[in-house]
Amino acid sequence: MQLHVSSHPLVKHKLTRLRDTATDHRKFRELVRELALLLCYEATQDLQLKATTVDTPMGEAQGWEASEVIGLVPIMRAGLGLVDGIQELLPTVQVWHIGLYRDEETLRPVEYYNKLPDRPTAQVCLVLDPMLATGGSAIATVDILKRWGALRIKYVGVLAAPEGVQALSAAHPNVPIHVAELDERLNEIGFIVPGLGDAGDRMFGT
Ligand code: PRP
Repeated sequence: MQLHVSSHPLVKHKLTRLRDTATDHRKFRELVRELALLLCYEATQDLQLKATTVDTPMGEAQGWEASEVIGLVPIMRAGLGLVDGIQELLPTVQVWHIGLYRDEETLRPVEYYNKLPDRPTAQVCLVLDPMLATGGSAIATVDILKRWGALRIKYVGVLAAPEGVQALSAAHPNVPIHVAELDERLNEIGFIVPGLGDAGDRMFGT
């Protein structure tokens, strides 16, 4: 299992504000955006670089440039909230949306949008979704990406339930999981407890 729970004080502070029922939709989106940036920073520590030189006002300096294309793969809807900040932070990035919703009865993911091209175009894929509950949506997305031919895949989310971590790790042991917090459990309707409610609804005001 490759579970990374952030220990950064800013992540803890922002997550606490995110959970709060007093946080409105606008603030909720802002916090998700900021958490995404902080978690992405941690998840990209192993990004490959190539050596380069750059002209400074004082002469030439040795430097580095990111040499990998990163594919951001938000799971709609709630994963969309994690895209904007990360897209601005990373140098070479593509965004590939995957549409999945959870059937409320079975809790199984149902695919409704996938426009991936025939061949993989990114060296690293970051699956973005704030909530890892049963793990069904994340597993289905990683399945899609592996069929596409993606070789290096990471999951970046906000909250995880132990059940989701177990399921994703069992299905895809080579996919690191980066989250702000590991919560206690899932409740009987598949929501993370204590969690933050329905991330998609809180993000989009529905
Ligand atoms: C929620 C959440 C995840 C999924 C997690 O999405 O955003 O995508 O459930 O659950 P799982 O780990 O059990 O699969 P939902 O299906 O409610 O869709 P939405 O994002 O459009 O609200």
